Amino acid sequence: MNIILLGPPGAGKGTQARRLVDARNMVQLSTGDMLRAAQSSGTEIGKKVAGVMARGELVTDEIVIGLIEEQFSTVKADGFIFDGFPRTLAQADALGHLLARAGQKLDAVIEMKVDDEALVARVTGRSTCANCGEVYHDVTKPQPADGKCSNCGSTEFTHRPDDNEESFRTRLLAYYRDTSPLIGYYYAKGQHVAVDGMAEIDAVAAAIRDILDKS
Ligand code: AP5
Repeated sequence: MNIILLGPPGAGKGTQARRLVDARNMVQLSTGDMLRAAQSSGTEIGKKVAGVMARGELVTDEIVIGLIEEQFSTVKADGFIFDGFPRTLAQADALGHLLARAGQKLDAVIEMKVDDEALVARVTGRSTCANCGEVYHDVTKPQPADGKCSNCGSTEFTHRPDDNEESFRTRLLAYYRDTSPLIGYYYAKGQHVAVDGMAEIDAVAAAIRDILDKS
């Protein structure tokens, strides 16, 4: 089973993808995580995209399609969760070709709908476990009182450099300009389904579970 989690910055794509990995033996392919890993390890791609990402702009199609193709051809899994990819119509076409060449298909494109005002609070309140990537939020999912990650026990947490209001506004603009046309693109293919991303994390997970059980 292959699915796309589609939604604006802070919609909860990463949070729900991690749950699906645990529950369904699927592999999360997050282009954001891949690009941050490239920056941490100082690769050419990492150096090239650092400024673009910090400003909240989109990285080129060529780079992100290349990253996805590499992971898709090397990682073996029961299914993939595409998180933050595709983000443009060119990326959506590339993914369609990639799946077709592998004799696979998309089972669902799940749009997570969240009000714009809620998104900025989610992004600016976010922190992440530096060791395992578990995502927290100052208000809705605070770090445990003992200061240890509930998933791996690490005591190190990080804040993303693009999680400030200015970069967020640029990311949101990019979402409406370049990514939201994918809603119509996948609706026309009969693959689009939406969930209420304003609901609590467990309720969103249950709604996604229902969709996948029916797919
Ligand atoms: P990326 O890393 O993909 O960031 P994003 O799409 O902006 O999404 P986020 O990671 O900010 O949010 P999320 O939806 O995963 O939310 P999360 O679960 O963390 O991309 C970063 C950058 O990389 C881009 O700006 C671009 O430069 C580049 N890039 C990446 N992919 C690209 C591509 N394909 N093409 C071109 N460029 C690309 O949740 C957010 C917070 O909310 C957390 O604190 C969480 O605890 C909380 N939360 C989650 N769910 C709920 C809920 N239901 N209720 C309350 N709080 C919740």
